[in-house]
Amino acid sequence: MAKNKSKEFDSLVSDILENEYFLETKKDLHHGTSKYEHSLRVAKLSYKLGRLFRGDLRVAARAGLLHDFFFGTRKEKPENSYLRHPVTAASNAKRYFNVTDKEAEAIKTHMFHQVLLKKIFPFINRREKASVKEFKPKSKEGWIICFSDLLVSIMELERFQFTYVANVFLLLVFNIIMFKN
Ligand SMILES: [Fe+2]
Ligand SMILES: [Fe+2]
Repeated sequence: MAKNKSKEFDSLVSDILENEYFLETKKDLHHGTSKYEHSLRVAKLSYKLGRLFRGDLRVAARAGLLHDFFFGTRKEKPENSYLRHPVTAASNAKRYFNVTDKEAEAIKTHMFHQVLLKKIFPFINRREKASVKEFKPKSKEGWIICFSDLLVSIMELERFQFTYVANVFLLLVFNIIMFKN
């Protein structure tokens, strides 16, 4: 990131990066990296895309950074699950950083890519409900954060790419067999 852009990015998120509760995310593993590192990558990409698409840079950077702001891993508590953790992160972001409604909404809808994936493959996490209406991004920044999270996650999982592709293929075959009629 160029120096002046990097400075602007820092000024938008420095209070979060220095916050003791946010620093807790350094302890949590996420996509084979720390949740802190993952969130920072998503925030930086969201900020860059925000500039490109003339979005609200404050929303893009702050909601991007807080999109996975929940404590522990996704498997530890029901509220941290695959599709519920965005709701938990949005309420934590409100509680600890008093984010705006727009920022909270952008956090809440960041897993829309997985909601769509679950609609295609209903056997993924069968117990979770995936509401397209509830989790569809409602703002430009919401779409940006959703896309950034997907892209960053794929890049972080790159070293597991073969396993990932194999799993998707198996799920596809399984779904075709199960829903043939
Ligand atoms: Fe997430
Ligand atoms: Fe994420």
